[in-house]
Amino acid sequence: MINNEQRIAWGITGSGHYLKESMEIVEEMNNVDLYLSKAGEEVLKWYDYDLNSYKKNGIKIFRDVTASSAPVSMLYEGVYKCLVVSPATSNTIAQMAYGISDNLISNMFAQAGKCRIHSIVFACDTEPTVITQAPKKLVTLYPREIELDNFNKLKTFKNVDVVDNVKNLKKALKKFK
Ligand SMILES: Cc1cc2nc3c(=O)[nH]c(=O)nc-3n(C[C@H](O)[C@H](O)[C@H](O)COP(=O)(O)O)c2cc1C
Repeated sequence: MINNEQRIAWGITGSGHYLKESMEIVEEMNNVDLYLSKAGEEVLKWYDYDLNSYKKNGIKIFRDVTASSAPVSMLYEGVYKCLVVSPATSNTIAQMAYGISDNLISNMFAQAGKCRIHSIVFACDTEPTVITQAPKKLVTLYPREIELDNFNKLKTFKNVDVVDNVKNLKKALKKFK
């Protein structure tokens, strides 16, 4: 059973695409802790986000610094009502779709699934053509078939909402606010 005391674990992976939109939603919420992949931590710096300012707002920040992904134990303690991974890179989507859990975010996702905690995943490379904000300019990318296949595979998972736009991310989050 979920309750209002529980928080939301929010995973950030190393995607510049939809990072701004994801961080805007994080900033509007008051019950979120951040979980960063190693690339997520780097990319936040590339895009000039100051993690200390988030800490001041009461957000706990968990970095990927242990081989065993020790912070996943928070999922066993009932701290979180849901896991959000937004934005999710092609790499993280592939790991999730194939059950690989060898870093903090893929472990959070796997353990959330095993604990029957709901996950919401914002997959960013889901259109044949993607225009994305690189640190200094807009670039056009053409996601490969493998990215689209992994996205479709993940959509078949139980207890997981896989979304591909901000509107649907907000809609999925409403159930857990
Ligand atoms: C500035 C920058 C922006 C990036 N944006 C994306 C992106 O939009 N989508 C993506 O799949 N990978 C992107 N990457 C590459 C990922 O960070 C890289 O694949 C990384 O290994 C992903 O690790 P993670 O899934 O554990 O976070 C970007 C890398 C850099 C340096």
